[in-house]
Amino acid sequence: CGIVGYVGSQSALEVVMAGLKRLEYRGYDSAGVAVLADGGLAAAKKAGKLVNLEKELGARPLPTGPTGIGHTRWATHGGPTDANAHPHLDNAGRVAVVHNGIIENFAVLRAELAERGHELSSETDTEVVAHLLAEEFSGTADLAEAMRLVCRRLEGAFTLVAVHADEPDVVVGARRNSPLVVGIGEGEAFLASDVAAFIAHTRSAVELGQDQVVELRRDGVTVTGFDGRPAEVRSYHVDWDASAAEKAGYDYFMLKEIAEQPKAVADTLLGRIDAAGSLTLDEVRIGAAELREADKVVIVACGTAFHAGLIAKYAIEHWTRIPCEVELASEFRYRDPILGPRSLVIAISQSGETMDTLMALRHAREQGSKVLAICNTNGSTIPRESDAVLYTHAGPEVAVASTKAFLTQLVACYLVALYLGQVRGTKWADEIRAVIRDLAQISGQVERVLETMEPVRALARSLADKKTVLFLGRHVGYPVALEGALKLKELAYMHAEGFAAGELKHGPIALVEEDLPVVVVVPSPRGRSVLHDKIVSNIQEIRARGARTIVIAEEGDEAVAPYADHLVRIPATPVLLQPLVATVPLQVFACELATARGNEVDQPRNLAKSVTVE
Ligand code: G6P
Repeated sequence: CGIVGYVGSQSALEVVMAGLKRLEYRGYDSAGVAVLADGGLAAAKKAGKLVNLEKELGARPLPTGPTGIGHTRWATHGGPTDANAHPHLDNAGRVAVVHNGIIENFAVLRAELAERGHELSSETDTEVVAHLLAEEFSGTADLAEAMRLVCRRLEGAFTLVAVHADEPDVVVGARRNSPLVVGIGEGEAFLASDVAAFIAHTRSAVELGQDQVVELRRDGVTVTGFDGRPAEVRSYHVDWDASAAEKAGYDYFMLKEIAEQPKAVADTLLGRIDAAGSLTLDEVRIGAAELREADKVVIVACGTAFHAGLIAKYAIEHWTRIPCEVELASEFRYRDPILGPRSLVIAISQSGETMDTLMALRHAREQGSKVLAICNTNGSTIPRESDAVLYTHAGPEVAVASTKAFLTQLVACYLVALYLGQVRGTKWADEIRAVIRDLAQISGQVERVLETMEPVRALARSLADKKTVLFLGRHVGYPVALEGALKLKELAYMHAEGFAAGELKHGPIALVEEDLPVVVVVPSPRGRSVLHDKIVSNIQEIRARGARTIVIAEEGDEAVAPYADHLVRIPATPVLLQPLVATVPLQVFACELATARGNEVDQPRNLAKSVTVE
């Protein structure tokens, strides 16, 4: 989500709206503003893009005042409706709050508030904060102190920005694991989720640390910890131009989104593993009985999401022993698939608007099957038409080629597979518990991969004039190979093919010639060691025919080293989770190759982010 706060001598509404425009790429399913004026608080909010809010403000103008906040939303809790849009107000309409992130314990807090007589009007976790702030403010008459008291009770990752009509010259912000920066101007101050919102006004910025609260006044800012202890304020100069600022300094949204993957993965797990180490997927409203009785799982998806589905099949069949089919959504309904009330259909889609996937799920529901959507876009058509939805929390993905959405789709697929295993009580119960523990660590491993990508970039640049690259994998490494090839086609416009390494001898090996780059995703030598040995033979076979081998292998896997012309190391993970780390070098490789060939990375030719025709 995008957040803006302002206090100064300009019209807060104008500054905030201009800031929101610069942040619209962070979320665009609803938007809202609140300003303090004439001793009161006035707010407006609207579902849809920012223009809807602009129209609303044109029809019903707000009073002008020097203090205000605004928000452009990417929904997590509650669909993108007017009521769920931010800001959220308390019952008396004196406090307004905007929020980015997820408050994990909001259900408990909400129940407490309801008991004390508060009336909550939205389905969001944010509204709870508005009510808590109002309560604390009535005791302290100090918004910053009220914010500190509230933050100490919140669990999860969040940025909060609030105003109170009784403190008309103050904006207060709080930050835990979610971005928030402060801009310092002459007699004015700004708060925003990134500097793009205010660099038109000032280039002097202060970054807030974890668990800090900032109080903004015209003449300066005060920063403390949640515990009230004063914090050191370190300011820095922003030298990005406006378009670089939107991309947090990265050249392309795709690079930014690749870098955001550890957080996207962690956010998708947030609130879904309980203290006892079990999964709580409350959103999956398909009942335990239906999940227990499902006799097959059918996954439908397109493009990158289809590759997530292929990986899910390995996980679902292994942990649940339910047969699982994966099919391209565009092929699905036209072959009259066999479906019934006991088939569980999973539709995976980042955008939630892909027509092929939508048609496939409609067909499934017509046959009486239950449909579970895995989707990144709250309130989009696919989740609306499904029986239940598990949202990925990747945040908005701007680059056409999918990266962070893919990793979070994988996480969601693992969660569904493990949950099915949990509900059905398979003999893999111990393994399931262990994998849930490993999943909780995986974000750190993705981070480690990102830290070691420089040699991959250098390699990609050196291959810029090649015509073809092949990708091989086995087991879950096979869909990873397909995804690596797809990324290269999309971005570098090169001929790229992914193969199951075992199929090599049945045809593709005829393509191998001197110096042909072949990327090989090597399964872990632990666990399925037979597979590992087989792929080592495959690498030898292609190398003997002149291929240049680019080998992606687990740290400590020494058996492959003699046959690798280039060796890319990834951290050891449980066998089924390897795609979460193995895909990352392939994304970086494709992105760098595209750049080296002078291609437009974020908007490759002929492609659309969301394809809404069949
Ligand atoms: C388009 C995009 C792909 C994406 C596919 C499925 O083709 O270019 O990157 O994987 O659609 O999109 P979805 O939004 O359904 O995941």
